[in-house]
Amino acid sequence: CTVRHYKFNVVMKNTTRLCSSKPIVTVNGKFPGPTLYAREGDTVLVKVVNHVKYNVSIHWHGIRQLRTGWADGPAYITQCPIQSGQSYVYNFTITGQRGTLLWHAHILWLRSTVHGAIVILPKRGVPYPFPKPHKEVVVVLAEWWKSDTEAVINEALKSGLAPNVSDAHTINGHPGRVSGCPSQGGFSLPVESGKTYLLRLINAALNEELFFKIAGHKLTVVEVDATYVKPFKIDTVVIAPGQTTNVLVSADQNSGKYMVAASPFMDAPVAVDNLTATATLHYSGTLDNTPTSLTTPPPQNATSVANNFIDSLRSLNSKQFPALVPRTIDHNLYFTVGLGINPCPTCKAGNGSRVVASINNVTFTMPTTALLQAHFFNISGVFTTDFPSTPSHVFNYTGIPPKNLQTRNGTKVFRLAYNSTVQLVLQDTGIIAPENHPIHLHGFNFFAVGKGLGNYNPKTDPQKFNLVDPVERNTIGVPSGGWVAIRFRADNPGVWFMHCHLEVHTTWGLKMAFLVDNGKGPNQSLLPPPSDIPKC
Ligand code: C2O
Repeated sequence: CTVRHYKFNVVMKNTTRLCSSKPIVTVNGKFPGPTLYAREGDTVLVKVVNHVKYNVSIHWHGIRQLRTGWADGPAYITQCPIQSGQSYVYNFTITGQRGTLLWHAHILWLRSTVHGAIVILPKRGVPYPFPKPHKEVVVVLAEWWKSDTEAVINEALKSGLAPNVSDAHTINGHPGRVSGCPSQGGFSLPVESGKTYLLRLINAALNEELFFKIAGHKLTVVEVDATYVKPFKIDTVVIAPGQTTNVLVSADQNSGKYMVAASPFMDAPVAVDNLTATATLHYSGTLDNTPTSLTTPPPQNATSVANNFIDSLRSLNSKQFPALVPRTIDHNLYFTVGLGINPCPTCKAGNGSRVVASINNVTFTMPTTALLQAHFFNISGVFTTDFPSTPSHVFNYTGIPPKNLQTRNGTKVFRLAYNSTVQLVLQDTGIIAPENHPIHLHGFNFFAVGKGLGNYNPKTDPQKFNLVDPVERNTIGVPSGGWVAIRFRADNPGVWFMHCHLEVHTTWGLKMAFLVDNGKGPNQSLLPPPSDIPKC
């Protein structure tokens, strides 16, 4: 088996976008950061050296980290952050996964500029379950703020109100054609007529789900979140922060230039944000001054366009890649996810209150010792294991926000026996605003077995679940004013974060953790921490 070594220097870099410059936190001076390449089965060692004033940690989003939770990365969950001047080697083996994932900072709002692609190729000699593309291209979607993103969130926390939205979206680091600032040249993708390309799409944005489309070209979806799906053709893909989607594009025109567009999606927009990032698909032999064929992005609230994509996703479920959906359930959980309002005497702009977020009415309080260390070394007083399996009061979604918006604080985890099976229904509360929450579970893939609008009905809805070929992923949108049901097997001992991947909601407390006990058999326990694990 192969060992791959990477060095990630976390450094400040002065960067110009939208006609203005600011210093940003980067890995190796790049935005987006370097792509991490590996093959299924490889061991990856990434030495992260922190040269900036902030504490840093890096998460390998979607990597299962079997028994190696110490390398997962969320600050104060699986490790203490890497302090300024310190380093830490993330050491993990990629087991049973191939496809596109992403890595990103998992502390403060550093993810806004500290992110990049993970490309896991199949084992040598193992083909893709679709025709081999002529070329593969990583396409990282993200956001750009003119001001410093740490200042953006700190101001919001002080006021108690929502933070500003970004000033632009980006495709491989560039907004493309934006009014008010003459284009600095957006990303250009050269193609040859008659060839097929694999685009590895990644949404690394902090707070925005995105539509993606290309003028004059259909997209054939073949993979999401590093799991193969039954291929289907579509015009527009929707990707939530933390999600990845692989699509094949046939360069079936003779020549020309075609607009590539990434634009925001939000069911019920609280803030209007129409900014579209653009790039260009450029056929070889086409003159530079040829006008670009344009495409119109869907409106920001085009829920039907999003559902058209989401509802088409099915696991490939082939002999080689079977969908191992748990058929029996040991833990039947019902979690409400949404916003709330708590008192904040110092929040002047918020009139003495602040916006918070919660799961089952618990607003998660970050500990000052990493939960995984507290668990492994039996340090008491860091967390409690009483995370509720259902909300504290019966939840009934009526479309009208309930009166009791207040949440309680706690550092609570939900404990799972090794290898137990979990069914988790995530219900959007629609409090303050109905919004699609992309929920990400660390350490596992799960199957999305059901989805609906309004209240989940535990008697009738499970009868409609797809237990044959539901899509398998690590991040899923809980529909606005609706619910989604997921299933997974707790076969990975450790402490695993689960949170909304809209960073503002994570900051507000829409997060919790599962604690999975060790199994009794060989190779069923969490490994001990590496000797260089950072101290708090
Ligand atoms: Cu990609 Cu905990 O996040």
